[in-house]
Amino acid sequence: MTDVSVVSADRLPTGVDEVDRVLGGGLTAGSVTLIGGEPGVGKSTLLLQLLAGPAAAGRTVLYVSAEESTAQVRHRAERLGALHPNLLLAAETNLAHVVSHLEELRPAVAVVDSIQTVADDQISSAPGSVAQVRGAAQELVAVAHRLGIAVVLVGHVTKDGGLAGPRVLEHLVDTVLAFEGDRHHSLRLLRATKHRYGSTFEVGLLSMGDRGLDTVTDPSGLFLADRRIDVSGSVVVPTVEGRRPVLVELQALVADSELPQPRRSAQGLDGGRLGMLLAVLGRRLGLGTHRVDVFAMAVGGARVFEPGADLALALAVMSSMADIPVPAHLVACGEVGLAGEIRSVVGIERRLSEAARLGFRSAVVPVSTPPVDVDLHLHRVDTLAAAIAAAGLVGAGPD
Ligand code: TYD
Ligand code: MG
Repeated sequence: MTDVSVVSADRLPTGVDEVDRVLGGGLTAGSVTLIGGEPGVGKSTLLLQLLAGPAAAGRTVLYVSAEESTAQVRHRAERLGALHPNLLLAAETNLAHVVSHLEELRPAVAVVDSIQTVADDQISSAPGSVAQVRGAAQELVAVAHRLGIAVVLVGHVTKDGGLAGPRVLEHLVDTVLAFEGDRHHSLRLLRATKHRYGSTFEVGLLSMGDRGLDTVTDPSGLFLADRRIDVSGSVVVPTVEGRRPVLVELQALVADSELPQPRRSAQGLDGGRLGMLLAVLGRRLGLGTHRVDVFAMAVGGARVFEPGADLALALAVMSSMADIPVPAHLVACGEVGLAGEIRSVVGIERRLSEAARLGFRSAVVPVSTPPVDVDLHLHRVDTLAAAIAAAGLVGAGPD
């Protein structure tokens, strides 16, 4: 191995800061990136925006639209301010034609939108089938490597991540990005789930507006903007996305239920985790929830699936049950174990600093939290019972 010479990968910044952050500086020449996301999340929008940067910098870039007409794409590019003579457009579904465009133009970056709608007429199966999608991707990977083009493939995924497309391609490509978000909210997250040219640690935060996607400079501010204080069932949790701390409000509503099987709903949260927390509250604290519906959500389209949000969620449920608000200036974070113990979380100092920056004054944290230099009053707790006392919910419980 030591005899092998190192070839440094040539980076091409896209100009979309959040994309460059996730990719570790930009697209890599001769590499293939697959970007997956649900229909309507904004993939085509993002890709036009990331072609605009290199085009303006004098590079030839190509957008292959295999779904929309040239007029539709031009219309979107206009809206995004992405029109540029170096940004070339082809509406094409025939793979052989796409390849000849690439050979002829030798663009620095080429986007194929989407891999499910280009087809090789040498393969008899229908466009979108596994054989077609894999065949087309293999050919484009070969061309990208041969000509040193940074190729970006779009792949639609369904809610459960299924569909013939993206999953069968992950091992073929160099980088896999997931573009996530709730269509009814503006926030979008870009994550790398595989990256041969860097880490998969960073997360891009973007917001969809009238003129496309923009960097979110203050995500915590975004999530807390409409927060009402002194209402029961609301607790703020400092989470981390990649390296960045983000404060998110969790809400719970506990209401009497007429149903033989009461409802449990978790929006933007892990439903399994909510069920587990309710079981822990029942068994460890005697707070049964079998006659109540429990609705829980992460506010503002946020998605909080890390265990570090357990404590805040449990406190939100408790607060709603007792109809006692937690103090407005308090945040909580910690993982809850099955014994009702509060366990440590990663990046606690970053989380707490962000809370302090936004004006919070106290935090309920795991007892194992190391000394941290933040301007917050820390309640170090070892159990849920202690956390409840620290959050001022003493006396909480059904009836
Ligand atoms: P699109 O990029 O077409 O999604 P995908 O390629 O993932 O299917 O965009 C999806 C939605 O984004 C569309 O319903 C309209 C909205 N949108 C905006 O809100 N602002 C914009 O500037 C653009 C171009 C689209
Ligand atoms: Mg699209």
